[in-house]
Amino acid sequence: MPSAQQVSVRLIVDGQEHHVELDPRVSVMDAIRDRLGITTVKKGCDHGQCGACTVLVDGRRIISCLTLAASYDGAQVTTAAGLGSTDQLSDIQAAFVDRDALQCGYCTPGQICSAAGMFAEAEAGMPSHVTADVSDLQKVRLTPEEISERMSGNLCRCGAYAHIREALTDVAQERGQA
Ligand code: FES
Ligand code: FES
Repeated sequence: MPSAQQVSVRLIVDGQEHHVELDPRVSVMDAIRDRLGITTVKKGCDHGQCGACTVLVDGRRIISCLTLAASYDGAQVTTAAGLGSTDQLSDIQAAFVDRDALQCGYCTPGQICSAAGMFAEAEAGMPSHVTADVSDLQKVRLTPEEISERMSGNLCRCGAYAHIREALTDVAQERGQA
């Protein structure tokens, strides 16, 4: 079978610009991991079911294994490494450490990115399946129930869910979103 025509894609990952020639069927995740060698993004199921590959694109969380890199030419991609550094952890990263919200750590980059997306969505007044009062979406409160629902796309095979929820509740309280 002849190989598909290559396309040129520009991706800005964690502030660094990259140009790659790709088969148009390549996902954002494979472009980042396999072509750019940025392994912060984890491949779990490769079927959109575990959330391990979650990154932020232009500030919104996406499942990077289900999205085509060719559709995101010029996009700003943020991985967990772009949200903070070892010397200067973001509040979400620090809360994960403080609450011991990880075990093997494989799901953690996706959890961190998903959490960053969740806080932005709540701030923007986006309701979830469990939001009881949708009459005033300027005040979406990130209760533990809301956090569980909004993070439900991110699986953790170690079962660190209770501590992840505690960490994100701490951040929600510190940010005035609880
Ligand atoms: S690797 Fe993308 S959702 Fe599992
Ligand atoms: S900490 Fe191991 S998969 Fe979540």
